[in-house]
Amino acid sequence: MEDKKDLTLALQTIKQKALTALKNVNSPETLDAWKITFLGRSSEIMQVFKEIPHAAPEERPKIGQHANVVKSELESQFESTKQHIQQDLLSHNLEHEKLDVTLPGRKPQRGRLHIATQTLQEIYRILAEMGFQVYRSREVESDEYNFELLNIPAHHPARDLWDTFYTTKEGVILRTHTSPGQIHAMHEFAPDPVRILLPGIVYRYEQMDASHEIQFNQVELLAVGNNITFSHLRGTLDEFVKRMFGTGVETRLRPSYFPFTEPSAEMDMKCIACHGKGCNVCSGTGWLEILGCGMVHPTVLKNGGYDPEKFSGFAAGLGPERIAMLRYGIDDIRNFWANDIRFLSQF
Ligand code: DAH
Repeated sequence: MEDKKDLTLALQTIKQKALTALKNVNSPETLDAWKITFLGRSSEIMQVFKEIPHAAPEERPKIGQHANVVKSELESQFESTKQHIQQDLLSHNLEHEKLDVTLPGRKPQRGRLHIATQTLQEIYRILAEMGFQVYRSREVESDEYNFELLNIPAHHPARDLWDTFYTTKEGVILRTHTSPGQIHAMHEFAPDPVRILLPGIVYRYEQMDASHEIQFNQVELLAVGNNITFSHLRGTLDEFVKRMFGTGVETRLRPSYFPFTEPSAEMDMKCIACHGKGCNVCSGTGWLEILGCGMVHPTVLKNGGYDPEKFSGFAAGLGPERIAMLRYGIDDIRNFWANDIRFLSQF
């Protein structure tokens, strides 16, 4: 490209090629590539500028001017193509991302309390109306509180009633029932009267099946005072069952055995499925066992700091999961900890 003619011709060709190529540009990416090819540092037009000093002196201004015209023409074509592309992109997006406000809304998933928690809260509410206050006790217990102070000495055969999770630390266990909370509470309140419920999770070293879990809730009741009798026990528990399951529900007490109560009993209620006729829910008996109870054993009162000559009390223990199972016809206790949303969302 030594002389004017060659450079002029070159400029025309460059312009032609660039503008033709620009016609095929239709995206920000191809536009960038076009700019590098036709206006970049090693583009042909830039080569022309480098050639100008070698041209005949009188021709240089003309060629320079011509090159500048071509360059700014390419630059302005670049700008307008860029605007077109942006405009096209915008209208494409507006067209495809438009919001159809007439579509039905999506229902947000609502969370809920676990069925065991719901049942616990209902138990709290009923017992609060009857004058009981919540007392929380520890889940990690000592052998002393879980057994000995409740009148269950080491090697006593009654220990077989509670399959226990032991820890590697001597004497430290997971509580097998909420009853040890009775002793903690009595230590705190004696010699004042108490009327409390003790809720919480308990642990049993069990073979799991439809009616056995290794962890479940219990609610313990404890009332200690000067003239508490078996009638108070019966009246309170019967009233509780009626408020929980309906006023028409009949209850009965059956003699039983627990080391920490004397006498001990179990409360049954008329089967809510068959109303006493006998069905598979009540194994044909017409009755459902609903809780264990009794008059606090004098030894336990003494261990709690009360003089058994002056004080008496009643206690009871019930299972919220069992109550929920009876109410809703749940046939497998393992559902409570399986965390299956299909189960949980039904309540
Ligand atoms: N602690 C007993 C258990 O887990 C339940 C129980 C029975 C608690 C009788 C009591 C009671 O307070 O009086 O099997």
